[in-house]
Amino acid sequence: MARLNLLEETRFEKLPTTIYPDQHVASVNVAQRISALIRSKQQQNKMAVLGLATGATPVRVYAELVRMHREEGLSFRNVITFNLDEYYPMQPTAAQSYVTFMNENLFEHIDIKRENVHIPDGTLPLEEIHEYCLEYERKIEALGGLDLQILGIGRTGHIGFNEPGSAPNSGTRLVTLDDLTRRDASRDFGGKENVPRKAITMGIGTIFKAREIILMAWSGKKAPIIKKAVEGEMSSDVPATYLQLSDNVEFVLDVDAASELTRFNTPWLVKDCVWDEALIKKAVIWLSKTVQKPILKLTDEDYNNNGMAQLATEKGPAYNINIDIFNKLQRTITGWPGGKPGADDTRRPERAEPAQKRVVVFSPHPDDDVISMGGTFIRLVDQGHDVHVAYQTSGNTAVWDDDVLRYMEFAIDFNKSIGEDSDKLEAIYANMRNFIQEKQPNQVDTQEIRDVKAFIRKSEAFAGARYAGLSDDNIHFMALPFYETGKTVKKPVTDIDVEITMELLRKVKPHQVFAAGDFADPHGTHIVCFRIVEEALRRLRETEDWAMDCWLWMYRGAWHEFETHEIEMAVPLSPQEVMRKRYAIFKHQSQKDRPVFPGDDEREFWIRAEERTRETAKSYDDLGLAEYEAMEAFVRWKF
Ligand code: F6R
Repeated sequence: MARLNLLEETRFEKLPTTIYPDQHVASVNVAQRISALIRSKQQQNKMAVLGLATGATPVRVYAELVRMHREEGLSFRNVITFNLDEYYPMQPTAAQSYVTFMNENLFEHIDIKRENVHIPDGTLPLEEIHEYCLEYERKIEALGGLDLQILGIGRTGHIGFNEPGSAPNSGTRLVTLDDLTRRDASRDFGGKENVPRKAITMGIGTIFKAREIILMAWSGKKAPIIKKAVEGEMSSDVPATYLQLSDNVEFVLDVDAASELTRFNTPWLVKDCVWDEALIKKAVIWLSKTVQKPILKLTDEDYNNNGMAQLATEKGPAYNINIDIFNKLQRTITGWPGGKPGADDTRRPERAEPAQKRVVVFSPHPDDDVISMGGTFIRLVDQGHDVHVAYQTSGNTAVWDDDVLRYMEFAIDFNKSIGEDSDKLEAIYANMRNFIQEKQPNQVDTQEIRDVKAFIRKSEAFAGARYAGLSDDNIHFMALPFYETGKTVKKPVTDIDVEITMELLRKVKPHQVFAAGDFADPHGTHIVCFRIVEEALRRLRETEDWAMDCWLWMYRGAWHEFETHEIEMAVPLSPQEVMRKRYAIFKHQSQKDRPVFPGDDEREFWIRAEERTRETAKSYDDLGLAEYEAMEAFVRWKF
């Protein structure tokens, strides 16, 4: 039976959670707990037996342990480790193996004895696996069991590779990976088809026997599964819910991963709140959705019956709250994303003056501008603003190899048709063809191939921006250096990336900047690109007056939209504008039909874009506002 939960605020939570402001602080804290365990065992002349995980989540914990080893003399001579899992089949030397991961992130940098490291063996013949797994369990038991088990959580709710359907008493065994897990791993393997279908994993029962279990999760991407694991009913559909049965478990979360827990998402259900404007707006929209009534039809009973009696008492009656929120939402809608000339702008999202603004639309990849805000982009141009678009990265990792050959063949034919010698081009082409034929999954392309891929994306970006109405002078293909690794893992951002961005901003001196504010995926290119724009503007604001008056609007990329209560500017699109936007997206031919990185959404980009903007319009309509074909949403960044 799990620990009793005596607090009202956490009454929906079925296991203990500790929430940190960010993953860095959280990881340092977990690393300190591990080091305290190792040291205390050292004093008793005992071994510390650790269960370890791989993946993005524990990386900073391992980095901190390595730092402690180097700078604080933390020794791992008395440490024995058992890793949770390994893909099957898998060679230990492969780039994607968990052996490589553990070596690179931890073992190579500390003084652990090699014979004390255990990672399931992905090279065994099938018939030996069962006995091997039993032996893995026996070894753990012979050492007195695991002192501490570190876990991440998959979006399927898996712990280790115990996918939905796993039993609470399962032991170490060979399992089949869930489709979503394979899709999540596809970037590491250069395509889902290369991700192994199986893995060897410790069982839930094995994990359960650990004397202490710490499950970590970071970022909004994990928020939905964390809510299920912490507050949901226990079920094999979400294997992590079995941890609710343990007395020794703790979930260590950053604020984003915790954001969907009831106490943060709908706090009025578990405690008295301080009702500021933002919370009232969020709660009223929630209430309207929950009881499926437009805002202006919500009654005092609706408020009282749905945990919002405190709000009705403090700020009511319902009629007044309803009108207030309805008006606030109404004022976010504007067909004038660059401000309406001559209008009273005190309650409009953008300033009326100057009537013609200079605008820079930053697009992390060469198609995010049209996918995410194509309608608004076209409107800004139509309304006479001086619009520039800046493609921040070359996007060259997302082009298929055969497209490169196609374009090279075109170049050779064209060269010949104008009577030029094409020996050099043909030699390069032959090299490319050989390289592509022999290419291993995720192998970095040659510089020439990467260049051609970038040129393809550049020409598509120009076509898209021209279609939106821009002249070539206003189209900037930045190809920022941090992106240019040819791999999914990029280089750290440097001053050069920021300075290139500052230079462009200095040249245009925009009144308005649009940038992709996607914070859910902390490793993604979008967030890195946003931070570069933010930093560039922050630096410019120190010395340049125009920068103080420059407003930064965030849009969201192809994956998810802002919540309705967050939206500060909603730009409606007519059916004709939806079509124009669609044609602009079509200019990105290398991304059509089947992009290299579809993420976990199989829909084509233009379909995602249209469905998402229709959903936003529907959500406004459901709240009782006007019914539009589609809407693009924006939130203003506060410096
Ligand atoms: C890793 C493991 C998995 C991961 C989980 C989360 O050894 O067993 O359960 O912990 O898939 O992965 P990340 O941390 O990459 O999000």
